[in-house]
Amino acid sequence: MKNQKFIPALGYDALSIYYDAIIRLTMPEREFRKRLINWIDPKNSDQILEFGFGTGQNLLLLAQQNRQAKVSGVDIDPKIKHIAETKFARVGIDIPLYLYDGKTLPFPENSFDKVFSSLVFHQLDRNTKLHCLNEILRVLKPNGHLIIGDWGKAKSKWMRIKFLLVQLLDGFATTTDNVNGLMPTYIKNAGFVGVSEVDFINTKIGTYSYYIAQKP
Ligand SMILES: C[S@@+](CC[C@H](N)C(=O)[O-])C[C@H]1O[C@@H](n2cnc3c(N)ncnc32)[C@H](O)[C@@H]1O
Repeated sequence: MKNQKFIPALGYDALSIYYDAIIRLTMPEREFRKRLINWIDPKNSDQILEFGFGTGQNLLLLAQQNRQAKVSGVDIDPKIKHIAETKFARVGIDIPLYLYDGKTLPFPENSFDKVFSSLVFHQLDRNTKLHCLNEILRVLKPNGHLIIGDWGKAKSKWMRIKFLLVQLLDGFATTTDNVNGLMPTYIKNAGFVGVSEVDFINTKIGTYSYYIAQKP
């Protein structure tokens, strides 16, 4: 499958193998992922998809939190999929992972109770943000929930300055709308309702915000 152009997990392909180590160094990893899982609130019968699973850290935590929930992930990068699959095999957990061609998510409409995404949307340009949100809306069941954790509106001048490091790695074109607090507008424009920023964490490299929304 030929994927469209994308920004790899750490901005450059060769850095992907260091992703977990860099996140541990620069982010309060345990805390930001724990809060993400709490907001996802996995129930026994839930069908849950992670959009942009990266090295699989969130999926592992989610599967450990509720073994009855049916969790799976989709990502655009075959190399990162291999890294996640190797990790899952090492710990003996079986989580289905799929590749996305950047156009159509490989699932029928109304498939999932919850779709979540972490640290992905700041890597997407405006059109791609909207396109991916439309695709997520399509595969969610009616009343299904979207949970996004990503760089959000900087909560202080100092946070704004620190975020320049992320912008230097990932580029200004995709990250500026995030740090200006425009994610809720994108989510609403895609057709979601009940959109709100429910939480945030100030990290060493910027403000990580949590957004919740629902498919009508
Ligand atoms: C910074 S990593 C985040 C990984 C993980 N969600 C986390 O919280 O650590 C961003 C991920 O989004 C994926 N990605 C980038 N563009 C994408 C797109 N258009 N569709 C799906 N995934 C994409 C990248 O391949 C990468 O694995």
